[in-house]
Amino acid sequence: MIRVALVIANLALLAACDWMPGKPTAPEINRGNPASIHGFTNLWNVNCQGCHGETGMWGAARPLNDPLYQSLVTDEWLTGTISNGIPGTLMPAHAVSMGGHVTDEQIKEIVEGMRTHWTGTPPSYAAQSPAIINVKAPTGNVAAGLVTFNTYCSPCHGENGVGAMAGSPVDNSFLALASDQMIRATIVCGRPDVGMPDWQGNLNGKPVPQREGLAPLSNTQIEDLMAWITSHRVAFPGQPYSKDGNTSPGF
Ligand code: HEC
Ligand code: HEC
Repeated sequence: MIRVALVIANLALLAACDWMPGKPTAPEINRGNPASIHGFTNLWNVNCQGCHGETGMWGAARPLNDPLYQSLVTDEWLTGTISNGIPGTLMPAHAVSMGGHVTDEQIKEIVEGMRTHWTGTPPSYAAQSPAIINVKAPTGNVAAGLVTFNTYCSPCHGENGVGAMAGSPVDNSFLALASDQMIRATIVCGRPDVGMPDWQGNLNGKPVPQREGLAPLSNTQIEDLMAWITSHRVAFPGQPYSKDGNTSPGF
């Protein structure tokens, strides 16, 4: 009888105590539970900064803290991009419904945080900018695109885009990593972090000498540029095959 009473008392003690050897503590549980992370800085650091930089710039992809870019994209666009990723590029889908581990509530927090943490003033012509979001395939004229390129872009990217002080935007390995959308965003907003001017020819508010005397790019010119640049996409990028085919012995 006494023994039964002791067992019952022991069980009661065990039930009252929240900790048992091997049971993770609250912080340990949260470490493996990405849904418990909140606050823009925490969410950004865990999910985005590796590719987009701690402050939204100097990442592998375009600067997202750029005020012109910010003024041209809607919250819906940002939410959709973060949720679904950009197919065919390194930008992953984050939504739980797409196999990611960022909840819809956290994605909302990230988008709100991108707006409230990065508050630079867009240039006065932002409202006249050509659209940055264009999910259609380029409709421009390839030959006209080359002419525009050799007028507007070659001073930095080399005649026919072979590369000069800036790299080649028609390199097929570059194109394999970049979506049409990213190329359009680059032409409209430039890359203020690395020295590429926007559609007006300005870099961080000042005209660049290489675009002196040239009118701002029109939407038609941008479509033509897109058509010419993306015409360099190939089926098997990065292959160093000679134009005579593979001449190595034994092939
Ligand atoms: C593994 C690297 C990687 C991670 C992680 C990543 N991104 Fe990206 N992101 C990219 C790349 C690369 C692009 C450009 C892709 C393209 O369109 O060519 C991009 C593009 C974007 C764009 C631009 C879309 C446009 O064209 O307007 C946004 C916005 C964006 N990412 C937000 C985020 C946010 C927010 C996070 C974190 C929740 C994140 N990304 C995490 C690599 C990444
Ligand atoms: C004043 C010099 C300058 C001019 C003019 C210029 N660019 Fe650039 N561009 C750059 C620099 C610098 C970079 C970044 C470094 C690199 O890619 O080598 C860049 C990068 C790019 C990229 C790659 C962006 C990325 O995120 O990797 C594309 C695409 C591009 N430029 C297209 C163009 C087109 C199209 C034009 C003409 C409308 C143009 N550029 C005009 C300097 C310029």
